[in-house]
Amino acid sequence: MNSQPRRVENLHTDKGKVPVYATGIVEQPWDDYSDDDHATWSTLYARQREILPGRACDEFLAAQDAMGMSADHIPKFSELNQVLTTATGWTLMGVEGLLPELDFFDHLANRRFPVTWWIRKPEQIDYIEEPDLFHDLFGHVPLLMNPVFADYMEAYGKGGVKAHGIGADALQNLTRLYWYTVEFGLIQQADGLRIYGSGIVSSKGESVHSLESAAPNRIGFDLERIMRTRYRIDSYQKTYFVIDSFEQLIQATQPDFTPIYARLSRQASLPAGEMLESDRVYQRGTGEGWPTDADV
Ligand code: PHE
Ligand code: FE
Repeated sequence: MNSQPRRVENLHTDKGKVPVYATGIVEQPWDDYSDDDHATWSTLYARQREILPGRACDEFLAAQDAMGMSADHIPKFSELNQVLTTATGWTLMGVEGLLPELDFFDHLANRRFPVTWWIRKPEQIDYIEEPDLFHDLFGHVPLLMNPVFADYMEAYGKGGVKAHGIGADALQNLTRLYWYTVEFGLIQQADGLRIYGSGIVSSKGESVHSLESAAPNRIGFDLERIMRTRYRIDSYQKTYFVIDSFEQLIQATQPDFTPIYARLSRQASLPAGEMLESDRVYQRGTGEGWPTDADV
């Protein structure tokens, strides 16, 4: 198998062009990974595991170990699946990259998590603008071992199928929820603020920035507030939303969103960095403000 992803089309969205790949499920071509590919995994894995203790939530790190992920080499999906399926009934499957929304939702609704099979090139170690194997596997997969988070992801998939049938605005609201929880969520643990969002844990720069920097807002989880809030895909987040537990996430998202979507369609979106009176502010970082170089 050649190791170039097969890009089939670009999706035009309000955030610019997003590549969409073939929708087929691919067998992970594990034997075809090069030494460079494994070295990229090792470097990234070791680097993140060095900074994440005390920053990522405890469950996240424990789950990576329990699944048998390590810095040694790119894990085999089939081996991870043996542990994951037993734990929560989720299955990983290889894909070429970002999927059309409805395909993605349908996989989640059936407890299948799509993982990009290819890994970034050495020159993209610090920054890649689209999800690759490292982001998907290192960032997203560990929390699927947590029974409550695992249920949330399935519910999200079902909610996505429904929102897709309602319309573009509903879908945008739901996508913001994914962004500010699954990708960029923070959680208040007994001993302090921690990261659970995949987009943060797979980025060295944002792992530090999200907790330590004095620049971003860190405010309490509020479903409708999140659904109204725009986000940036090309820089660190200006606002992070903090949950107190994964149970809170499940409970807050249990109600039927249909009336919420209807209500929100009459309200303006909020800029990513704006604060409201009603925002519950969590601990601020004491470090410097915005970095001058985006070292994501
Ligand atoms: N309750 C949501 C709905 O009615 C479904 C959902 C659950 C969406 C969890 C996201 C996360 O659409
Ligand atoms: Fe992601």
